[in-house]
Amino acid sequence: MAIPDLTYIAAPMVKQSDAPFRMLTQRHGATLAYTQMLDPHKLLEDRDYLEFHQRDLTFGRDACNETVVVQLCGNDPEIIVQAGKKIQDLCSGIDLNLGCPQEHAREDRYGGYLLAKKDWPLVQTIVSAMSHLLQPPTSVKLRLCPSSSPPSSTVEFATLLEQAGASWVTLHARHVSARRRRQGAADLDVVRTLKTALRVPVVSNGNVRTWEDVQKNKEETQADGIMVGETLLGNPCIFANIIPDPVRVSLEYLEICKELPDIATHKTIETHVRHFIEFQCSRRPWYNKFRTALPACEGVHDIEHLLRTKVTRWRGKAGLKNHDACLDDLECITD
Ligand SMILES: Cc1cc2nc3c(=O)[nH]c(=O)nc-3n(C[C@H](O)[C@H](O)[C@H](O)COP(=O)(O)O)c2cc1C
Repeated sequence: MAIPDLTYIAAPMVKQSDAPFRMLTQRHGATLAYTQMLDPHKLLEDRDYLEFHQRDLTFGRDACNETVVVQLCGNDPEIIVQAGKKIQDLCSGIDLNLGCPQEHAREDRYGGYLLAKKDWPLVQTIVSAMSHLLQPPTSVKLRLCPSSSPPSSTVEFATLLEQAGASWVTLHARHVSARRRRQGAADLDVVRTLKTALRVPVVSNGNVRTWEDVQKNKEETQADGIMVGETLLGNPCIFANIIPDPVRVSLEYLEICKELPDIATHKTIETHVRHFIEFQCSRRPWYNKFRTALPACEGVHDIEHLLRTKVTRWRGKAGLKNHDACLDDLECITD
C-alpha cells in the first residue's frame, strides 16, 4: 500500500479525533488525519470498543472517503499486530505511539516511556512485526529521547526504526516531561537533523499556531509534512489558510455529526464546539454565558439551537455575518 499524502496532518488526539472532526479537517485542507491512540488490548477483548472504532473508521471511509491513519499504543508485538489486523482494512496506515506522556503510559510502559535506550530493541521488534505482518504501511510518532541520553539519541533511535520498517517518522520534538505547549517550544533543529538523516519521509509536529507557522516550520525543518494538534481544535481550517467564523464552522461540524449519529459521543461534540468558539471568542463578554449553557445541551439539536439563537443574539448585530466582532487577536484570513 502506498504512503498517504503527508503534507498536512490532523494529529491524533484522545477523544477529539472522531470521524466527523477528521472529515471537517480534511474538507478544509488536511491531507491526512490520525485517529486517537487506540488500546490494542481493548480492540481484542472489548467488543463494544472494537465495534465503536470500526464504525468510526467505516464512516470515515464510506461517507467521507477520508485518508486515515490508526494509531495504536502498547509494548507487545503480538497483541499490536493482532489488534492491527482488526482495523487494517479500514485505514491507510498504522502508527505506533511513542510519545504519550500520561501517567497510565508510564505505569503500563508504553508511549513516551519506550524511548530509553534499554527499550529500543523491543520497539524495533514491534515495528518490524507491524511492517511485515500488517498490510498498510507502519509509521511511528515519537517524542525526543530522554534528556539524560546523548542529544543524538533521537535521530539514532529513529534510524533504527526506519531500518525496522517504519515507512515514515513523525517527531514531536519535545521531551515527555513537557506535557503542554506552554512548557517550551518544540526543538525544530532536531526535526531538521532527522530529515537529513532518514530516507523515509519525516513529519514535523509542534509550534504551530497560525498558517504562517505551518510554512515557517516546513522551511526550518524541510520536513515532508506538518502535523497540527491543539491549534486545529480551535481552527480546523488552518491548513486552508482560513480562520472561519466560529459559529459557522461549529454548525458545519454538527451537520456532519447529524449525517451519522452515534459516531462522536455527546461529550466529544460538546468539547469540539467549545474549542471552536473559545479559540476566537474567549474574551468576549458573553463567553462565560456560553460556557455555562453548553453543558446543559442534551444533543446536537440543542447545541445547534444555542448557536443559532442565543450565541447569535449575544454576538449582536448581524449574527453570523458579524464575524469580526468575535475575533479577539486574530486577523480574519479568507485566502
Ligand atoms: C487533547 C489531546 C489529545 C492527544 N492525544 C494524543 C494521542 O492520542 N496520541 C498521540 O500521539 N498524541 C496525542 N496528543 C499529542 C498531539 O498529537 C501532538 O503531538 C501535540 O499536541 C503537539 O502538537 P501541537 O503543538 O500541534 O498540539 C494529544 C494532544 C491533545 C491536545
